[in-house]
Amino acid sequence: MSSNVRPENMERITTPELANAFIEEQVAEIRSQVGDKKVLLALSGGVDSSVVAALLIKAIGKQLVCVHVNHGLMRKNESENVIEVFRNQLDANLVYIDATDRFLDLLAGVFEPERKRKIIGKEFIEVFAEEARKLEGVEFLAQGTIYPDILESIKAAEGKKAVKSHHNVGGLPEDLSFELVEPIKLLFKDEVRVVGEALGLPHTMVYRQPFPGPGLGVRCLGAITRDRLAALREADAILREEFALNGLAEKVWQYFVIIPDMKSVGVKDDSRYEGWPAIIRAVNTKDAMTATIEEIPYEVLHKVTNRIITEVEGINRVLYDLTPKPTGTIEWE
Ligand code: XMP
Repeated sequence: MSSNVRPENMERITTPELANAFIEEQVAEIRSQVGDKKVLLALSGGVDSSVVAALLIKAIGKQLVCVHVNHGLMRKNESENVIEVFRNQLDANLVYIDATDRFLDLLAGVFEPERKRKIIGKEFIEVFAEEARKLEGVEFLAQGTIYPDILESIKAAEGKKAVKSHHNVGGLPEDLSFELVEPIKLLFKDEVRVVGEALGLPHTMVYRQPFPGPGLGVRCLGAITRDRLAALREADAILREEFALNGLAEKVWQYFVIIPDMKSVGVKDDSRYEGWPAIIRAVNTKDAMTATIEEIPYEVLHKVTNRIITEVEGINRVLYDLTPKPTGTIEWE
């Protein structure tokens, strides 16, 4: 699949049968492209890189080397899940790198959103490249590029202005030149999900809500501190748990917690309790260019609020963001 243009007559993959046919075709194509060489993949645990990993594992098994970089800005249990699914269940060749301290040390005191994004993106490539240099016999780099990414880069090449610099795996340093393997580059997201399920990936992984490359880094507003990041991670986990329990997990496109760098005065156990507010955001969108607010039942909001203020150290208020996009972007940074 070398062309970057989706043929007009390409059938939309909507059923397990169509997915299986696609998988078979790709497995053969990957085998003929890479032969007995090794392939490297940055596995974030997101839908696209997970589906590419599962496809390559099926095609070439341990010739695929997955590298999972934990930048310390993952959601609760996310890296653990990647290890469980890929190393323990799919027997993948997985290199796990906990780079939390490197990222958080570099980000200490940095409050400007675009600088934070640049640092995270650059360091990610740095850590990944260091790992790639240690491996021998790797000639290919697999990427979870999907068709909207290709359409997006065509738009960028036409000079349309970006609101934020979105970072995933960008260009690698020049000494590392690999041939690309991009087996899902002509697929739309819904098709990627059908293929992921046909490959046997867990439903929660295949239907995972979008999560930005810089992770919780753009939700822990301003200069990131470890204590505020820990509070954010716990509050976000509670929100996700309650949405799942209340049937909202797949109804709402994206939902998460943001924690600003400010405190307000509160009271706890009859004493003054200064804490951060947790801000809940829950939006629906088709293409992330505009977004509307999902109406969350009050009982759910109350339950989430009560759990966050009682279970999470350092948070004394919970707020609900009612702003559509525009004017608010989906993320706060
Ligand atoms: P905004 O905040 O621009 O976000 O309205 C639109 C969608 O993009 C996601 N997002 C990112 N995704 N890398 C990504 O892969 C990034 O750096 C990034 N920043 C924002 C955001 O979560 C939303 O779904």
